[in-house]
Amino acid sequence: MPTNDSRTLHLSIDSLNMRIVGVILATLLAQQASAQLADVDWWKTTTFYQVYPRSFKDSNANGIGDLEGITLKLDHFVDIGIGGVWLSPVFKSPMKDFGYDVSDFREIDPIFGTMADFEELAQGCKDRGLKLVLDFVPNHSSDEHVWFNKSIAREDPYTDYYTWRDPKGINETSGEPIPPNNWLSVFGGSAWEYNEEREQFYLHQFVAGQPDLNYRNPLVVTEMEDILRFWMDKGADGFRLDAIPHLMEDQTFPDEPPSNDPEFTPDQWGSLSHIYTADLPELYPIIYGFRKVVDEKQEELGRQMVMMVEAYTSLENTMKYYGEGDVKGAHFPFNFEFITNVNNETTASELKEIIDRWQNALPSGAWSNWVIGNHDRTRVASRFGRDFSIAAITMGQLLPGTAITYNGEEINMEDTWISWADTVDPQGCQAGPEFYEKFSRDPVRTPYQWDDSVYAGFTIPDSEKPWLPVNGNYEELNLAAQKQEENSPYAIYKKLTAMRKDMNAVKSGQLGTSTVGENIFVFTRYLQSADEKSVLVVVNLAENEVNADLTGVPTLRSGAMITYHVGVNSSYTAGQELSPSSVNVPARGSLVFLYTNAASTTVLASLLLVFSVILSLLH
Ligand code: NOJ
Repeated sequence: MPTNDSRTLHLSIDSLNMRIVGVILATLLAQQASAQLADVDWWKTTTFYQVYPRSFKDSNANGIGDLEGITLKLDHFVDIGIGGVWLSPVFKSPMKDFGYDVSDFREIDPIFGTMADFEELAQGCKDRGLKLVLDFVPNHSSDEHVWFNKSIAREDPYTDYYTWRDPKGINETSGEPIPPNNWLSVFGGSAWEYNEEREQFYLHQFVAGQPDLNYRNPLVVTEMEDILRFWMDKGADGFRLDAIPHLMEDQTFPDEPPSNDPEFTPDQWGSLSHIYTADLPELYPIIYGFRKVVDEKQEELGRQMVMMVEAYTSLENTMKYYGEGDVKGAHFPFNFEFITNVNNETTASELKEIIDRWQNALPSGAWSNWVIGNHDRTRVASRFGRDFSIAAITMGQLLPGTAITYNGEEINMEDTWISWADTVDPQGCQAGPEFYEKFSRDPVRTPYQWDDSVYAGFTIPDSEKPWLPVNGNYEELNLAAQKQEENSPYAIYKKLTAMRKDMNAVKSGQLGTSTVGENIFVFTRYLQSADEKSVLVVVNLAENEVNADLTGVPTLRSGAMITYHVGVNSSYTAGQELSPSSVNVPARGSLVFLYTNAASTTVLASLLLVFSVILSLLH
């Protein structure tokens, strides 16, 4: 019979054993949970790569890129580690806004190829495990769309497919009809165009060749939802939704008040405050409806789809695109913070604030994303300079959420100066020779620089001249050259996309942001599990090298050593271990380190196991 004392000892040994078993089970469960990360939805962990089809690769020597060209280059996407290809519009179009004016939403424009070319591209993507995302342009069609022609003729049910208004009167001097109100087009000038045949004005928030569809008409909504279904059946894995804040307008058509922004002349869009033509509350349910269609098709086809929204608007409005309560909206609205809020004057603390503000604004359960550039905005290398552009790309790849790259960013392509004579972008043309450089988007859309051959390998030497000039720097700045260099932007980009694929810290680690001194912004993506590496990113906002002591970074375990992984102009070599107490961060550069956040749980679990065995033996 055991004594009371020994019974107490047995009981406490038993409860200790139970606790140890509990710890071991918890450790095993934690390991199991991280193994499941491989199943996280593809659109969350991948990088989307925006292809501007006219400028990517020309397969038929007419100076304009096409679908077959993209198919020829599919291995490039695999090589640089991206998982989703997002194509700017390839649908039938008179090209007044280079494809964003669609005259048949179900056809491929002959300039880009045929439906068979599209199917070949979709199959090529599938074979390589790549997802294919299309640009969906719901706000407007082309003025050459059959719906518009029938609408002009008041042929039902098309009569109200667009927004038509009577003239406000007739100008006594010119005898011209007066537009219904003062609304302006995003591209400048009145947003109203008079149609002689219908004797009414129609609304166009972009060029006159892009009449706005009328989303107050349920038939229009149904038509557009059917188009989404059509392309998912054809193999699309989702959509980027274009110009969404412009979807609806105030139905009383009042004048908009001036913005009083001295930067804009009275006929420029920025001169008005767009309280009646943008961000109307009625538009969000339309987007939620699109999501429902996408989800239904996803169910039917057994393929996970994605829906991303383009909306330049306030943070508060942006967040509404995620949905409301149980009603789902976009998988994510684009996060344009790096385009609209970060600039060359941004300080370390401002950068931290911008990033924290976005992350904190996310509704519960919402997935983040980071857009670095696109076909509408100055290229990142021209916005931030050749070094800080890579720092921006590094942040975009390693901050929590989906990463979005515009073609050419992976080799740090720059804007190309385009003369007024060569300007073709409607936004540039409409601004006139005096202002076109401020507005034209041609500089960011020039041909991709594949190699140092004539036309940078975009097309063949005796082809027609490319539709936009190739950047003069192509002989040194091109993909083929960067493949030979160890620390080229291309090499850095590949290392970053590999981290997104391989590291759980990047897929699901917590985010910690901090600043060190005036110029250093730091963020960590850390895991509590110590068997896996956490990530430390150090960004220098100053024009000079800074020696930083990172030991105070709150999410860096005290005593942890850091291992250099990748960076810009770094004095460290990959794999080099150093103390965080003295880190040289190059001017306008970024450095990425790996570190272990806590003592290894495997070691801990093994120790506990040994301890428990000893205790049982004693027992
Ligand atoms: C946004 C697109 O990104 C831009 O290129 C286009 O001109 C407008 N929407 C109009 O569709």
